Amino acid sequence: MSIVADEENNFKKTDINRKNPVVKPETLESDKTFENTIRPKSFDAYIGQSALKETLKITIAAAQKRQQPLDHLLFYGPPGLGKTTLAGVIAAQMGVDIKITSAPALERPRDIIGILMSLKGGEILFIDEIHRLNKIAEEILYPAMEDFYLDMTTGKGQSVKTLRLPIPKFTLIGATTKAGALSGPLRDRFGIIHRLEFYTDDELAKVVSRTAGILNIEVDKEGAYAIASRSRGTPRIANRLVKRVADFALVKADGKITKDIAVDALDTLKIDKCGLDTTDRNLLMLIIEKYNGGPVGIETLAAALGEDVRTLEDVCEPYLLQAGLLQRTPRGRMVTAYALEHLGIANSGISVQTSLF
Ligand code: ADE
Repeated sequence: MSIVADEENNFKKTDINRKNPVVKPETLESDKTFENTIRPKSFDAYIGQSALKETLKITIAAAQKRQQPLDHLLFYGPPGLGKTTLAGVIAAQMGVDIKITSAPALERPRDIIGILMSLKGGEILFIDEIHRLNKIAEEILYPAMEDFYLDMTTGKGQSVKTLRLPIPKFTLIGATTKAGALSGPLRDRFGIIHRLEFYTDDELAKVVSRTAGILNIEVDKEGAYAIASRSRGTPRIANRLVKRVADFALVKADGKITKDIAVDALDTLKIDKCGLDTTDRNLLMLIIEKYNGGPVGIETLAAALGEDVRTLEDVCEPYLLQAGLLQRTPRGRMVTAYALEHLGIANSGISVQTSLF
């Protein structure tokens, strides 16, 4: 359950246990090697999140001057924006190892105790999906985070004894798509809390060019922008699309990704100009056609689409909200006038409500 950076700072990941994998744009096992190959390993190579990077560089420099581990950090934001990658960059910058796990893999007390006891001084422990940590694991974590010890109990009944076991000073980096789902006491134990933002098309075009370079794929500027503009502000999606479009370029042309090739490939993959795929469009069309534009509850939508509520909330919705295609109201989800325009049904005669009032 760990990633360890070797001398070249290549992160070797083993076993992240995801019980309920969310398919898009969460990481699938088969994508992990690919992601690891193209993962930036320094702040210079890491594109985007510039304000956050500047703050982190100062925080790291200060910790190094004090010869202290970094404060515990919490990163939150939609999946695929580079939370794990950033944790790896921080570890490389600090010159320490990082152990990577996720909350669903820490089901039993001995899972979290084992990993805490295996840490060496200054090391980073990265826990993904930290909002899914169970109560017992959380309570083991509190004294470990605050004062670097574990409270262990031995014996049974009247002969029960508590043992205070010191552990080396470490830094916890937690990542979550749902900061609001974290318990108050856990959130309060993070010294630094940051939100990761969606990427601009300019930033994503740089990600596309960088990834293509690593994979020896030729892409021109317009080709990179065409992929970037349909990547939902998310580098993980941009990187996946580079590979898909490269396949297309190889089979249908001379292997070079140009704007025409990228547009043709993405249209064929049914990824539209806003980066929406069939699931996103089905979600919007369902609200429009069956619920007159909304409001409608997320559970109803999930049941009608045969999707998991969590997938819709964590994966589909953040981008639809950010892009101004969907709105959340106290009475449920509603489409926006822009969604009608985007889907080409603004003047279709379908009766749709886009406002509660
Ligand atoms: N690949 C994924 N995220 C990236 C980022 N922020 N910068 C460069 N390459 C990336």
